[in-house]
Amino acid sequence: MLDHVTAVRYVTPLREGGSMPGVVEGDDLGTYVVKFRGAGQGLKVLVTEVIVGELARALGLPIPRIVTIDLPSAIARYEADEEVQDLLNASPGTNLGVDLLPGSLGYDGSRPPTPELAARILWLDAFTANVDRTWSNPNLLTWHRQTWLIDHGAALYFHHSWPSKEPNPERFAAQPFRADDHVLAGVATDLAGAHASLAPQVTGDLVDQVLDLVPVEWLETTDHLPDAQTVRAAYKAHLLARVQQPQAWLPGGGA
Ligand SMILES: Nc1ncnc2c1ncn2[C@@H]1O[C@H](COP(=O)(O)OP(=O)(O)O)[C@@H](O)[C@H]1O
Ligand SMILES: [Mg+2]
Repeated sequence: MLDHVTAVRYVTPLREGGSMPGVVEGDDLGTYVVKFRGAGQGLKVLVTEVIVGELARALGLPIPRIVTIDLPSAIARYEADEEVQDLLNASPGTNLGVDLLPGSLGYDGSRPPTPELAARILWLDAFTANVDRTWSNPNLLTWHRQTWLIDHGAALYFHHSWPSKEPNPERFAAQPFRADDHVLAGVATDLAGAHASLAPQVTGDLVDQVLDLVPVEWLETTDHLPDAQTVRAAYKAHLLARVQQPQAWLPGGGA
């Protein structure tokens, strides 16, 4: 399970983020960037944050700690900003918290990661179909001279078709990835090497461990996916099908 904390204070919204995440203090004295379950993007982006974030961590990529966080209703009651109050009121129960990296800077290319780390990050994005790491939206932070990954809500977008369509792992496995706009396209060199070291680590067991971290109340069921177990199995099937087929999605085809 992810660590669980309770919010004690809502500090400020991060309005540059599309989903209006907020800075929140927890009862463990931690400070978190919280993504709210009641934001317009819905629960699926929270699921993706955990799956891709924890996969990244398991593969050794720098990613801030992820927790689940409860918001007591009193926190919304004393919030003066109406827009924030609506968001908090719409978010009772489990929300997503990411350790705030104090003093971190948005990635601007002036302190790039090593080509090796860049290749691993680009590999992760190609594998999980994360289209949200471009110059207009790098979703990388520089902190303690290191590049850190944030914001994986846009990855695994196949799940947005689930309410109406049957899950189709083969389709996702064959989906190409365009790396031209990726913020690290000019830094990452050896993608085939990244694939060779990372892909074998993406085993059924690892994927199960990661999926087990997703709070069950975030997993939305459909006609085709009637319970949490089948939803988890669908994510697993998509990831394992895709990792076998780098010729379809890895820039350069993995050669
Ligand atoms: N862990 C963090 N530490 C410090 N700043 C963060 C952290 N996570 C997000 N931010 C800041 O908040 C902004 C929005 O967060 P992000 O996760 O990208 O949400 P959105 O889905 O709204 O784009 C980021 O661009 C960054 O400036
Ligand atoms: Mg973002």
